[in-house]
Amino acid sequence: MPETATLQVQGKTYTLPIVIGTENEVAVDISKLRAESGVITLDDGYGNTGSCRSAITFIDGEKGILRYRGIPIERIAEHSTFPEAAWLLIYGELPTAEQLECWSDLLSRHEMLHEGLYKHYDGFPSQSHPMAILSAMINAASCYTPEIIKMESPETFQSAAARLLSKTRTIAAAAYKASIGQPLVYPKPHLDYCANFLHMMFSIPFRDYEPDPEIVDALQLILVLHADHEQNCSTSTVRMVASSGANLFASCAAGVCALWGPLHGGANAAVIEMLQYIHESGMSVKDYVAKVKDKTSHIKLMGFGHRVYKNYDPRARIIKQAADRVLNKLQINDPMLDLARALEEAALSDSYFQEKKLYPNVDFYSGIIMRAIGIPLEMFTVMFAIGRMPGWIANWKEVWEGQTRIYRPRQVYTGPALREYVSIGQRRLVPIPGLSGEVAVSGACR
Ligand code: CMC
Repeated sequence: MPETATLQVQGKTYTLPIVIGTENEVAVDISKLRAESGVITLDDGYGNTGSCRSAITFIDGEKGILRYRGIPIERIAEHSTFPEAAWLLIYGELPTAEQLECWSDLLSRHEMLHEGLYKHYDGFPSQSHPMAILSAMINAASCYTPEIIKMESPETFQSAAARLLSKTRTIAAAAYKASIGQPLVYPKPHLDYCANFLHMMFSIPFRDYEPDPEIVDALQLILVLHADHEQNCSTSTVRMVASSGANLFASCAAGVCALWGPLHGGANAAVIEMLQYIHESGMSVKDYVAKVKDKTSHIKLMGFGHRVYKNYDPRARIIKQAADRVLNKLQINDPMLDLARALEEAALSDSYFQEKKLYPNVDFYSGIIMRAIGIPLEMFTVMFAIGRMPGWIANWKEVWEGQTRIYRPRQVYTGPALREYVSIGQRRLVPIPGLSGEVAVSGACR
């Protein structure tokens, strides 16, 4: 007899099925609740809502566990290249040597952008944010391959996935080159995924960039660690858009937009800005921590805290060790690393952070490695997007292959009850909260 849960609402009792995941996570299935009772559940920010069943990534936030397709992130970070991790996430198994070779060839084959796409860069003003360019260009890239819009077979999917994964890095590097007024650099098919990206970022027409193998490995690690993280804001966005039947490129372009925010992918840049602020202002770590704890300051310790992890983010642990290693090897002395260490120590020994179970997340140390690689601050979140692409693609595929209905949450309406339409001459001024001056007094718009 399968387990069930019982819910009593307004004097009636409903029996709800229990769903148990591979790792014994227990969920109450409420998918028929509204049809049977007229009642919905309310979960602001979805902190208690399982939005789907997924076989891609497992997180145990209490224990600080992250696994891609069952394999611990520590093992993948140690052994996998980014294309291998991407294959694992997308197809569910580690690739054989032959599959990996074919996959890498496919990525190389699709690394170029259509010449027409390069012209789009001229239309963006020089101060454009590269996340805006990335999202726009991913959508634009789909226009050159109409067959991917009407995805019909696993072969078309594979071709679309390889195109997206490969071109994302070309688009990103070209966005950077356009922003600094340098000529765009074409990819080189003999280079592997990460070295090729670094070549497009840092080569110039008369001088090829020769990356230190340590730098290539550091980039590989960053991308692998970001490759998926179950139902975070951007991945849920990708699934939401995919559920309408939207194509892979459109869905992932939406994922880029969701990732942009400072509470999500934008946090990696915000961490460095925070460290720079502390460094330049001469403020002590103790004073900054006190400021964060003061709720009226509305300041958060960027790179700390996580919706799911109530323990050390396993990716942060790996990245922290890598930051030490990379900076040592490259003989870089970055005061931001010392500051980050001091800030972490101060926060972890403070009762505010202990009680709220706030630990460093993946973004706390990733920016320090990116600085060492030479990635400019405004590109940090783009790097996150390149890294997260396999996870978005894998999640899109799961929606595409499944029988998922269109995602369409309900709401609890809190606006005015039924009222009359008032003709324009009869209306009284209702001040708009937060706006002052003419708008508040006369209702005029600026
Ligand atoms: N600094 C100070 N206080 C914090 C922080 C922080 N970084 N994070 C959470 N809190 C407090 C928060 O104010 C709240 O306090 P109270 O209970 O007194 O109201 C409590 O801890 C619970 O936090 P929450 O905001 O309800 O947690 P959440 O699950 O809604 O938010 C988060 C998670 C990651 C958005 C949040 O921790 C945060 O804003 N952190 C800083 C931004 C950041 O580093 N984001 C990267 C996340 S990891 C990469 C990714 O997935 O994108």
